[in-house]
Amino acid sequence: MSVIARLHEHQTRLIALRRELHAHPELGFEEHRTSDVVAKTLFAAGIDVHRGLAGTGVIGVLQNGSSTRMIGLRADMDALPIHEQNGFPHRSKHDGKMHACGHDGHTAMLLAAAEYLAATKHFDGTLVFIFQPAEETVGGARVMIEEGLFQRFPVEQVFGMHNWPGLPAGQFAIHHGPVMACADQFDITIRGHGAHAAMPHQGYDPVVTGAALVQALQSIASRNIDPLDAVVLSITRFQAGEAYNVIPDVVTLGGTVRAFRAEVEDQVEAAMQRICAGVGAAHGAQIELKYHRGYPPTVNSAAEAAVCHKLIAQLVGEQNARTDLKPSMGAEDFSYMLREKPGCYVWIGNGLGEGGCMLHNPHYDFNDDILTLGASYWIRLAEHLLPA
Ligand code: NI
Repeated sequence: MSVIARLHEHQTRLIALRRELHAHPELGFEEHRTSDVVAKTLFAAGIDVHRGLAGTGVIGVLQNGSSTRMIGLRADMDALPIHEQNGFPHRSKHDGKMHACGHDGHTAMLLAAAEYLAATKHFDGTLVFIFQPAEETVGGARVMIEEGLFQRFPVEQVFGMHNWPGLPAGQFAIHHGPVMACADQFDITIRGHGAHAAMPHQGYDPVVTGAALVQALQSIASRNIDPLDAVVLSITRFQAGEAYNVIPDVVTLGGTVRAFRAEVEDQVEAAMQRICAGVGAAHGAQIELKYHRGYPPTVNSAAEAAVCHKLIAQLVGEQNARTDLKPSMGAEDFSYMLREKPGCYVWIGNGLGEGGCMLHNPHYDFNDDILTLGASYWIRLAEHLLPA
């Protein structure tokens, strides 16, 4: 019996599990109920369960045969602070929280694969199933690593998967290189000198300085960075005074920088420092920049991407193993794991139209039709990397 046929026997239960997770979304580091469900399911399948990494993180360890090789497969468990606007029976029971990124589906697919692999044991080595908290907010992956994930479970490679709305169900996308961008943030404080709005010459106007700064910062992408390197610098906050007749003392700006290479992040940060200092000097204002590194770029390693591509082509056909999708300017904290270990993060098509609603949208839902396909990918990958 094929992997998919065998999984189909369990499909009703798998869908029920996914919907049960969907109905009970929990935010980052609060995934207590979800992590209980994960731990119980792994335990019932005869898999060693380790809890407590990054608080709500769950690790399942499944060893078979004599090989000392070890690989990691990762799913994320957290939901988003969104009011779900779907009306179906499995809609969120937790008002203001929602599985709008499909992490319910990711968790269910990896659990299904773990159960299958524990039952069939057609591999030689150790599989480490990583269920991580807080992908959406503060980087549960980073916290797990800081708390010793890869010391306790020294995997050789690590793999991730995310559903992708707009990509048809039955297809995957593989990126040979960058797949998601970094997500840095910055805060800028401009200190001028407040004055009566009718007598601007008696102060230094930080609003005019701020306007000049916004323009000048946009020259980084167009004039400072190699045109062949993608970069976005968006100023999303500009907060100044409150009155019609008062020039404020202080203006604050904030925004985000996205890029696919750490070197580009360094260049952008340095250029921002230079421009802030220069514009401040030109306007007689003090400008302070605080640049905060967020999730690093998610970059697949070449050998692992090639393996995933080959296996996916075998699973769904070469024409459905897409390599023509551009990377996303969104970010993903699996990047921290890929900084430590070689590996690959693929997209699985969540479908078009209904169920193809974009991620983080209040009408989004994970597509149950792809659960067994995603689980099959995990199983093939595990059996391929740790051949019996
Ligand atoms: Ni997500």
